[in-house]
Amino acid sequence: MVILVKPGRFYVLPQLSYGYGDLAPLMSEEQLRIHHSKHHMAYVNGANSILQRLDKARKENAEVDIKATLKELSFNIGGHLLHSLFWGNLAPPSKE
Ligand SMILES: [Fe+2]
Repeated sequence: MVILVKPGRFYVLPQLSYGYGDLAPLMSEEQLRIHHSKHHMAYVNGANSILQRLDKARKENAEVDIKATLKELSFNIGGHLLHSLFWGNLAPPSKE
């Protein structure tokens, strides 16, 4: 599993190694598309938003509620990591 973090772009939604429709009928194309492109993306965007907020606060020497911010950051990074593990454990049905 590769967790992508690019300089200046932070976390990145991983590409799936299969198509959105490849897990049907066990998981519909719509269900997989929403889960990956909306739910997982929300964790990636959430983590990146917090990291940008921390960078801004650091530059401006502004105070941050670090306990609340780290709780929110760990929630979003956790969601990103768990979803990445989940995608890596799924595969289209064997054609054999
Ligand atoms: Fe999910």
